[in-house]
Amino acid sequence: MIDIVVGLQWGDEGKGKITDYLSEEYDWVVRYQGGSNAGHTVYVDGKKYVTHSLPTGVIRPNVRSVITHGCVVNPEEIIKEIEELEQLGIDFTDRLFISKDATVITRSHLIEDEKNKIKWGSTGKGIGPAYRDKYDRKAFKLGDVVTEHCYAKLLPFLTNTRELLYDAEIRDEKILMEGAQAVMLDIDFGTYPYVTSSPCTANYAPQGTGLPLSMFGDSSVIGVVKAYTTRIGTGPFPTEFQDDGLTEILREAGGEYGATTGRPRRMGWLDMDQLRYACEVNGITNLAITKLDVLSCLEYVYIKDSDDADDPHNGWVQFPSWELTGEEKTWDDLPFELKDYVSYISNETGCLVSMVGVGQNRDQLIWIE
Ligand code: IMP
Ligand code: MG
Repeated sequence: MIDIVVGLQWGDEGKGKITDYLSEEYDWVVRYQGGSNAGHTVYVDGKKYVTHSLPTGVIRPNVRSVITHGCVVNPEEIIKEIEELEQLGIDFTDRLFISKDATVITRSHLIEDEKNKIKWGSTGKGIGPAYRDKYDRKAFKLGDVVTEHCYAKLLPFLTNTRELLYDAEIRDEKILMEGAQAVMLDIDFGTYPYVTSSPCTANYAPQGTGLPLSMFGDSSVIGVVKAYTTRIGTGPFPTEFQDDGLTEILREAGGEYGATTGRPRRMGWLDMDQLRYACEVNGITNLAITKLDVLSCLEYVYIKDSDDADDPHNGWVQFPSWELTGEEKTWDDLPFELKDYVSYISNETGCLVSMVGVGQNRDQLIWIE
């Protein structure tokens, strides 16, 4: 059984948190695209874990984690990431598998990407130059550079991940695919050219893992959407706040700074036109709405929706905000204003909302039956 978690905006929707929550029920968590441009933050018992190249699954001892050939990997950075998590008590022995066919990010890719930081607001992690060299058929694969003499630390993890996952699926094990970035940063479906250099939708999971489409017949595709919108880097953002005060308040309330680069994120309202598109492209079956607690510091919140019949002129829908105590554990505990906001999103996208996030901790993710 294979399920997929993907981002529905411009990244940083909280995919890491949702993957961490769900992964308790899975045998495998798999990254199938992107690289260390990603930044997934998870809080467990007040401890903060950030992963970049590694799947969020590494935080759960029962889960085996995989990085496939669809990813680009900087050997120096991933070794550092592994060592940092080892210091936090995470054991990788026999539970991390990295494709020997993943594309290598080299030092010259990093140098080259410096100019893209200015041009596109890229993370500077060498992602674009590495993927370009892959498609130009001149990139190194991890299997070429990981030897006993250099990057030896990675040697025990290197394998054929396609075969590994194929066999796991045949044995009926449960596999969760963890998307990085999001549809609006996708090389084909995003706001080109202000995008990343990999395909970031659920549709790339078969190609990025090498598993045949027939294995995805019953997959749930879980779309993660933040209760408002953020974007980091350059490019269009139709619902961006025009009010610096509001930007400041919500950015602080939501801790909206890049997990990879520390840059302040651009802030805006939820965009229903954009969200409907994102659900359609990914074939979303279930939604997870994160960070609803952040909006509780405002009196009113808004959703941009040009389809909304009540207000065809400017297409904004107003909602009164809500108050939370931090003790809410079930859907029934939640204030009606918050439920109205969630129901609106569910109705307008036609997707079932299965999870809502009302705080940072694992137990502040509420499952809706
Ligand atoms: P690159 O992927 O580093 O080339 O960056 C291209 C664009 O995607 C820039 O606007 C980045 O800020 C953005 N981006 C890349 N990865 C992420 C991510 O994980 N979260 C949010 N934005 C990202
Ligand atoms: Mg992130």
